[in-house]
Amino acid sequence: MFAAFAQAEDPDEQITEALLGHGAVTGCVALDVGCGTGRFGSRLAPHAKSYVAVDASPQMARIAAENLGCRRTVAIARGERLPFADATFDRILASFLLANLPRSLRNQVLAELLRVARSSPEAAIWAVENHWHGAFQKLRGRAGGVENAEVLPLLRDHGFRVVETIRTRLRFPSPEHARVVLGMLCGEAAACALTEEPCADIDHQVVLLERAAAR
Ligand SMILES: C[S@@+](CC[C@H](N)C(=O)[O-])C[C@H]1O[C@@H](n2cnc3c(N)ncnc32)[C@H](O)[C@@H]1O
Repeated sequence: MFAAFAQAEDPDEQITEALLGHGAVTGCVALDVGCGTGRFGSRLAPHAKSYVAVDASPQMARIAAENLGCRRTVAIARGERLPFADATFDRILASFLLANLPRSLRNQVLAELLRVARSSPEAAIWAVENHWHGAFQKLRGRAGGVENAEVLPLLRDHGFRVVETIRTRLRFPSPEHARVVLGMLCGEAAACALTEEPCADIDHQVVLLERAAAR
C-alpha cells in the first residue's frame, strides 16, 4: 500500500530534483535513514560516492534493495541505534521519517544522525517533511495539526533551517485508486472525503530542511 502511495507521490520528481539541485548527496558518502521503498534513494544514489540505505522494517528494506540495485548497501536498522561508527557519513537524509516516529524517539534519532555524521564543514543532514498546508494535510486531518506543530519546530530547535518549500502533488491513476490507498493509509475520514469529492490529483506541500553536521 505504501508503494502505491509512493508511486503517486511527487509525480514530477520535484523533491528529488530539489535535493539534487542543492547537491544533497552529490559526490558524498551518504546515508538514507528510514529509506522506505528506496524511491528517493534509487534516484539519488547514482550521484553519491556511496549510498547506504537503512529501514527498521525488513519488508521495506527488501523492496529498497530491489529498487536500489546490488551496487548499493541496504540494511535493516533503526534510526535510534544506527550500526555505524561515529563520523562515518558526509550527508544524511531522513525523508518523511521524523514525523512518523513516536514522539519519545525523535530526539534519540536526531542525536544518532548527528553522531554518525562527519563534523567537516561540508557535512550536512537533510530532512524532508510535510508542510502544514495543502489538500493532502487536510485530507488526512493533520492540517496545522500536531505533526507539524511539533516536528518542524523540533527540527528548528535542532539547528535545521528551511531550504525550500515545494508545492508538489499526489497523482493517482484514478479517483478510486486515491480513495482506496489514502483510505488505507490515512483512515476513514480521508476515504469519506474522497467519496464525497472524488479526486486523483491532490495538492501536497513539502518542506526541505538542512543543518550543518559540524558541532
Ligand atoms: C513515511 S515512510 C518514508 C519512507 C521514505 N523515506 C520515503 O520518503 O519514501 C517512513 C519509513 O520510516 C521507517 N521507520 C519507522 N520507524 C523507524 C525507525 N525507528 N528507524 C528507521 N526507520 C524507521 C518505516 O519503516 C518507513 O519505511
